Amino acid sequence: MTVKVRFENVGKRFHARGRTVTALDDVSLDVRTGEFLVIVGPSGCGKSTLLDLLGGLTAPTSGRVLVDGRPVRGPGLDRGVVFQQYALLPWRTAQGNVEFGLEAKGVPRRDREALAREHLDLVGLDGFADRYPHELSGGMKQRVAIARSLAFDPEILLMDEPFAALDAQTRDGLQDELLRIWERTGKTVVFITHGIEEAVYLGQRVAVLTSRPGRLKAVVEVPLTARPATEDLRSDPAFTRYRHEIWSLLRDEVTRAQRQELTAEEASVG
Ligand SMILES: Nc1ncnc2c1ncn2[C@@H]1O[C@H](COP(=O)(O)OP(=O)(O)O)[C@@H](O)[C@H]1O
Ligand SMILES: [Mg+2]
Repeated sequence: MTVKVRFENVGKRFHARGRTVTALDDVSLDVRTGEFLVIVGPSGCGKSTLLDLLGGLTAPTSGRVLVDGRPVRGPGLDRGVVFQQYALLPWRTAQGNVEFGLEAKGVPRRDREALAREHLDLVGLDGFADRYPHELSGGMKQRVAIARSLAFDPEILLMDEPFAALDAQTRDGLQDELLRIWERTGKTVVFITHGIEEAVYLGQRVAVLTSRPGRLKAVVEVPLTARPATEDLRSDPAFTRYRHEIWSLLRDEVTRAQRQELTAEEASVG
């Protein structure tokens, strides 16, 4: 087992409007090469911040984020990011959007075309290369975003609630698609969600964060092997057990967060 990503005593504070917010506190976590790791936590606990640190979009206040043992110093082509909002260029076709990242990498035009087609095929969008974003459903747009991130062949795929805006059926379909792509490509995936079922369905391990400031509460191993599912894995007793375990861990945190909010309200009223 080799370590691909290491969060080492990571803390992150923000200063905004005269206030200091501690988003993350002393998070230490390793992600193995080729692993599918899911991070769950209550809203506002620092999940996106953790991913931004790994993406190199922001720097930790304390501790270090390492990829292959080297500190992250900024964004890089070894890490591809997929956000909840598709962030596609509206004036470019699906093909053009996938080629965009390859242009930045300096890939020659002919290779760009071929690579973009190959990756649109990979996400099940063969035949839609010439469509513009407004001609695609939400699920298809997210497929384009995934194809774009995969086309420049990053070693790590970072996904921040990529399916949260999609309807349940589309989401289930894309989860299976993503698992297939992960198996085929062997990428390391760090996937963020606030969905417990999604976490259990996708993750080999699920890291649970506490409510703000985000600390690592638990890491749950989910050794379910039948993914992507040929049958209804979600109603399997083992699946239900893991879901309940993570649900319990999260429930305590949500309760705690609500209590904190009430206390803050009282303080500002009183
Ligand atoms: N750029 C920023 N400036 C100030 N506060 C921020 C910034 N980014 C995030 N935060 C705060 O940090 C906390 C964690 O945010 P975030 O990582 O987005 O949480 P999550 O993704 O788990 O919902 C929140 O309280 C949020 O308001
Ligand atoms: Mg977030």
